[in-house]
Amino acid sequence: MRRSGRSQAAPDTSTAAAAAAAACGSPGSEDEVTASAKLIAAWRALESLEPRPLFVDPLAAALAGSEGMQAALQLARPWGSVDGSGSDGSSSSDAAEQAAVTQPAAGQSLPQQQEQQAQQTDAARRFCYSNVSARVWWFDRQLTAALARPSQPRQVVVLGAGLDCRPWRMALPPGVRWWELDMPHVVAAKRHQLEQLGAALSAAAPAAHAHPLCAAAWQAVAADLGRPGWGEALLAAGLDASRPVVWVAEGLLMYLDPDQANALLRGMAELSPPGSVLIAHNVTTELSRQIEQGGGLYGPFRRELVATWRCFYPPAFERQALAGLLQQAGWCLGEVTTRARIAAAVCGWGGSSGGGGGGADDAAAKEAAAGEAGDAAGSNAVAGQVDFEARPDQGEDRFAVFFTAQR
Ligand SMILES: C[S@@+](CC[C@H](N)C(=O)[O-])C[C@H]1O[C@@H](n2cnc3c(N)ncnc32)[C@H](O)[C@@H]1O
Repeated sequence: MRRSGRSQAAPDTSTAAAAAAAACGSPGSEDEVTASAKLIAAWRALESLEPRPLFVDPLAAALAGSEGMQAALQLARPWGSVDGSGSDGSSSSDAAEQAAVTQPAAGQSLPQQQEQQAQQTDAARRFCYSNVSARVWWFDRQLTAALARPSQPRQVVVLGAGLDCRPWRMALPPGVRWWELDMPHVVAAKRHQLEQLGAALSAAAPAAHAHPLCAAAWQAVAADLGRPGWGEALLAAGLDASRPVVWVAEGLLMYLDPDQANALLRGMAELSPPGSVLIAHNVTTELSRQIEQGGGLYGPFRRELVATWRCFYPPAFERQALAGLLQQAGWCLGEVTTRARIAAAVCGWGGSSGGGGGGADDAAAKEAAAGEAGDAAGSNAVAGQVDFEARPDQGEDRFAVFFTAQR
């Protein structure tokens, strides 16, 4: 197994930093917020093309568009080739060499071009896999588990849903009603595109649609989650606050400021009777510290990140701090985990699931759901194999925390 040996060199800032800024989004800029949603959709599209995908999102590529796909591939570039060296074995530690690997050289033979393509695909794949695919896989599994709880929640609310298409790709129990909230321009653009793509926006006449709705009902609600009023909009759209709710906050909390994030947590709690579940993740205070110090992997992107990621949560190993933060907002912390542990479970390196990557089997799902109980050796192996916002020598992802909470 090769270590990822990701290059620490300054990336091509004209492309990668722009893509990174797009990845972060900015609540102040409509285009950038939309770009962040497109970028994540593009990574879901790339995962869907894998020989053994963790999930298949048939709408993702079209929703991401060429802009999103290009951004996703460009963002993989700074991290270079599989083992940090070029195809000739030389160091590929600067942007010029990275670019040289990316562009087909004049006079290159077909096998050489294919080899080059494979390297690029692998780099993109590793970035995608570690940063988005494992995350999506974990959210899918947690959502399935939440819907199977004894309280049998049948209401799902996705906050900052972007171009997420779970209601068209996931097997859901009968009777699940689904709400999505996002900025007005994102909601409007997504609705329009879904209609164009033949996605059913209601459960009626499934045979008439290329992409039938797997939920009993779907509604997109335009709301700024950083301001009061989103709860009222959700109630007006039919949420029943006397019945359990599953809340999903994927790729959202970092874009709010801490007061907004706290208010959002409290607002969710107020609409959540016992039996409700929150499934969420965030970047961590450890990452914030690293950004402030200007060093580490995020050094080249510091300005963009500081400008766009505003809310940081305690890392998984500071469980009590995270529990306290959630408790103040009315939530009881459940599972806590990291991408390294999730990816270890995906790869079957955490113990019971066996076998190499890819399979989203039950054993792996159980392992992901096991959260902190995950095998540290497995997560160390994964941290060395794929890219994380982590120091590979420390073998753990300190910079993102995944958690569930209950009412
Ligand atoms: C990185 S994208 C993630 C989208 C989706 N959850 C996913 O994982 O594909 C962030 C999303 O959060 C939305 N968002 C950010 N700030 C928001 C706010 N204040 N109110 C509503 N949505 C917001 C953006 O519009 C964008 O769609």
